[in-house]
Amino acid sequence: MGPAAGAEHAADGEPAPVAGGPRHVAIIMDGNGRWAKARRLPRLAGHKAGVEAVRRIVRAAPRLGIETLTLYAFSSENWRRPADEVSDLMSLLRHHLLAELEELDSNGARLSLIGDWRALKSDVVERLENAIEATKTNSRFRLVVALNYGGQDELVRAMQAIGTRIADGTVTPGSITPQMIEAGLDTAELPPVDLIIRTSGEQRLSNFLLWQAAYAELWFTPVLWPDFDEAVLREAAESFAARERRYGGR
Ligand code: IPE
Ligand code: IPE
Ligand code: MG
Repeated sequence: MGPAAGAEHAADGEPAPVAGGPRHVAIIMDGNGRWAKARRLPRLAGHKAGVEAVRRIVRAAPRLGIETLTLYAFSSENWRRPADEVSDLMSLLRHHLLAELEELDSNGARLSLIGDWRALKSDVVERLENAIEATKTNSRFRLVVALNYGGQDELVRAMQAIGTRIADGTVTPGSITPQMIEAGLDTAELPPVDLIIRTSGEQRLSNFLLWQAAYAELWFTPVLWPDFDEAVLREAAESFAARERRYGGR
């Protein structure tokens, strides 16, 4: 499956991966609304441009040596938005992101989801399940989409599962370990998050990967998500590569 043999961008050549760069990058894709507002366009136009940015970044990430990319697409708090915006976001998910699937598959990418995505409308859930199933043996790159995801909700679900085990007597409270909690998170099968990026100038986690962020590096950029491209991702990866991670040691 030589990528250079394909029609697309063969002339660009393969850019080099970032030495010492992050293996697992998670992105809080923010700023679609402000991007649209700056152009006097409806918010939907910003979300559509955001989908284009997702397409670009999913292609760029493996070129930079990133093995796992987690994208925060819809938070458990985004239901607070007006109903028409929520329904626009769900249609984009139905039509665009899922249409990407074939290409993901042909590029050896595996799709995974985190969050309470099974609570979405049944047709979406069904398509997502099919997509996960269809790509589950791909190992070149892993795309993780956080859908109806909230870090607190994820921790609550993990605690509930442990609570059930305490109630049935298989676990005692004193034997709970960080590993046991981690095993109950949606990210249990994923490698540790190395770098969290947030676009649009906001500097907060907005309930993203709260547990997993413990020792992740953070990188913020004023670039609005629809303007995010490979060059900005490379800048973030290079910033990561230049950092010293200490994990509390010295
Ligand atoms: C991010 O852009 C997309 C989602 C949260 C789904 P926003 O819609 O939050 O854009 P701003 O923050 O209003 O600019
Ligand atoms: C975080 O962005 C959620 C996603 C990117 C999906 P928001 O735009 O919802 O976050 P707040 O409301 O500014 O904290
Ligand atoms: Mg926002």
